[in-house]
Amino acid sequence: VTVPAEPDFFTVVDTQRALRRFGREPVSDASLRRILTAATRAPSARGAEPWFFVVVRDPSIRAAIGAHYRRAWEAGEAFTVATDADRDVRERPYYPRMMRAAAHLATHLAEAPVLVVCCLDHAQLGPIAGPDGALASPVSAYASIFPAVQNLLLAAHALGLGGTLTTLHRHFEDALKSLLGMPARVEVAAIVPLGHPLDRAGPTRRKPLSTVAFADTWGAPFGG
Ligand SMILES: Cc1cc2nc3c(=O)[nH]c(=O)nc-3n(C[C@H](O)[C@H](O)[C@H](O)COP(=O)(O)O)c2cc1C
Repeated sequence: VTVPAEPDFFTVVDTQRALRRFGREPVSDASLRRILTAATRAPSARGAEPWFFVVVRDPSIRAAIGAHYRRAWEAGEAFTVATDADRDVRERPYYPRMMRAAAHLATHLAEAPVLVVCCLDHAQLGPIAGPDGALASPVSAYASIFPAVQNLLLAAHALGLGGTLTTLHRHFEDALKSLLGMPARVEVAAIVPLGHPLDRAGPTRRKPLSTVAFADTWGAPFGG
């Protein structure tokens, strides 16, 4: 699919894919500002806007994150194979392609010209987090950062850039936080690599709506 230079919203949504291979060309400051501004248009619990975004372009920091990411991927892959953890999705038609692409990203993360580290500040969650920072309502907490991450991904795609949401950093979060000089109260929710994609966007393939949307009661088909 060729996405027009200024695509309409539904073209953007319907062609958004995880794009994990990037050219060397840098992402302009103007594009990054537009993308980050779109991220900050998102909703959040209590209107608190408890997000921060660390835009990592420094090659040595990217390399350090990339090395951690690769180790976490290799450990995760070994665990997945040993426990057959993906047995519920392994037979899906796009699973092998997704895994190949994710494995490529794992060994090339640092080649993305930008890594956006998307952060959630527990100190701005009010009653959603207790005084020790523990989450009283994980749903409300993460629902206060991931809409922003999705806005970021959609905005990047609308500008012809590619990226994907990753959460593998959970296996090296302490190291990541110290690498970036982050305060203890701030949690990393996602790392989004961004760049000029080498692969083509959608159309996005998903389960048919009829299998996931119900009318009024559970299981009653939503006819539209
Ligand atoms: C919570 C979450 C974690 C993800 N973690 C990773 C990851 O660690 N590595 C990766 O390459 N993609 C990751 N993805 C991207 C998914 O694999 C991708 O969104 C999904 O396969 C759909 O791909 P498509 O939009 O190209 O169809 C993650 C997505 C989500 C929502």
